[in-house]
Amino acid sequence: MKHLSDLSRFGLFDAKAPRFTSYPPANWFNDGVDAQCVRIWQASAPKDAEISLYVHIPFCRRLCWFCACRTQGTRSDAPLAPYVARVLAEARAVRAQFVNGVKPRRLHLGGGTPTILSAALLDELLSGLNDIWGLDTLEEFSVEVDPTDVGPARLAMLAAHGLNRASLGIQDFDEQVQAAIGRIQSRDLTQGVVDNLRDLGVEALNFDLLYGLPFQTRKTLAATLDAALGMRPGRIALFGYAHVPWMSKRQVLIPGDALPSPKERLALFDQARLTLLGQGYVQIGIDHFALPHDTLARAFYDKGLRRSFQGYTDDRAPYLIGLGASAISTYPEGFAQNIPVTGQYARKIDASEPAIWRGYALTARDKLKADLVEQLMCYHAAALNEEQCADPELVASVERVAATFKGAVTWEGNHLTIARWAHPLVRLIAVQLVTPGDAPSGERTYSAAI
Ligand SMILES: C[S@@+](CC[C@H](N)C(=O)[O-])C[C@H]1O[C@@H](n2cnc3c(N)ncnc32)[C@H](O)[C@@H]1O
Ligand code: SF4
Repeated sequence: MKHLSDLSRFGLFDAKAPRFTSYPPANWFNDGVDAQCVRIWQASAPKDAEISLYVHIPFCRRLCWFCACRTQGTRSDAPLAPYVARVLAEARAVRAQFVNGVKPRRLHLGGGTPTILSAALLDELLSGLNDIWGLDTLEEFSVEVDPTDVGPARLAMLAAHGLNRASLGIQDFDEQVQAAIGRIQSRDLTQGVVDNLRDLGVEALNFDLLYGLPFQTRKTLAATLDAALGMRPGRIALFGYAHVPWMSKRQVLIPGDALPSPKERLALFDQARLTLLGQGYVQIGIDHFALPHDTLARAFYDKGLRRSFQGYTDDRAPYLIGLGASAISTYPEGFAQNIPVTGQYARKIDASEPAIWRGYALTARDKLKADLVEQLMCYHAAALNEEQCADPELVASVERVAATFKGAVTWEGNHLTIARWAHPLVRLIAVQLVTPGDAPSGERTYSAAI
């Protein structure tokens, strides 16, 4: 690869960096944001505010070794019904803080594995949310589907409640790779779930795939992509596998010596990227690909792409309300995260108390930086607005970045642009826009920059 030595010189293969699904990243959150502060944010939402709802289901039937998501295994169904009841109790309490008239635009069930809930429990959850929030204004209802833990009755129930987008966890179809990451899932089983969804009229599909897995080679990844592309999903998220065993203890089961080197990770991503572009997909940000008709591709072209805790999105709602253990909410004023441990979350809800754990109140300057980082993560380029150009500290950090990444970045007029070959550096460049000294030491919570 032509620019390998330049990418190496800029530290791509050694560094760790946040994925910037928010600015600041969640490890900056602090206890300066408490329940009282969040109540004020909720009460100040205008009456026609557009709201997105996120419900976190923190359970999985099995725990895949590679997974870094906040989740817990459960063999029995016993914890599921009480959890749904608590999410509804929280939803009721949160709704009471907002004025009448706010409009839910999106609902996303994530996890963990939302499809671990039986059809009856899904019905209870969705009917309950509808009673509390009034979901007839929804434009999108999406769910993370684990193809190995779902069935026709659960999918039919989701469709009956208006499901119109599904995200399927796949990761990789190669048998040796699957065995090494503790996630066995055949191509046929996945195809069956895809067919089922399409039969129910759920056409908008996303596949989660990973590069950088143990035993993955360019040949095996090409075969995985070939199989995935045969099912023609509108979107593919091709995440770099984050190997963080100090945070996600089950990853000690992953054979570290079978992991591709950082340079090989880049080669895997590049090869996959070219395949996807060749198949008519548009690259969105650092790790998403979408067919041109997909709403994400349209948002990308219309300059309406956003980055949120759910990754890349075309959701423009200023309020994202997270319900359930560990869920993060976004307000125009800042972020608030719920207590992550399910038992502690349960105790708070049972005591009729807010489940807020920590958060971050954005200063005016943070908002300018957040916009800059979001533009870079979405477009590998940013146009500074008047307010940003008038902020000497921000301009100084942009100039510093332009000097540090000379040759990879141009800074002309009010435009900061990353050269095409240097796109993999975007997370490192975004880190440099953060004033040194601002960030709590979070290196260990971050994953490889490529
Ligand atoms: C909540 S999970 C997916 C939903 C469902 N539980 C399933 O497994 O199909 C969300 C996605 O996060 C991604 N993910 C999990 N652990 C990861 C890691 N260590 N590095 C990168 N991506 C990861 C996977 O692609 C996974 O599909
Ligand atoms: S990948 Fe999905 S099913 Fe596997 S542990 Fe993570 S959240 Fe659970």
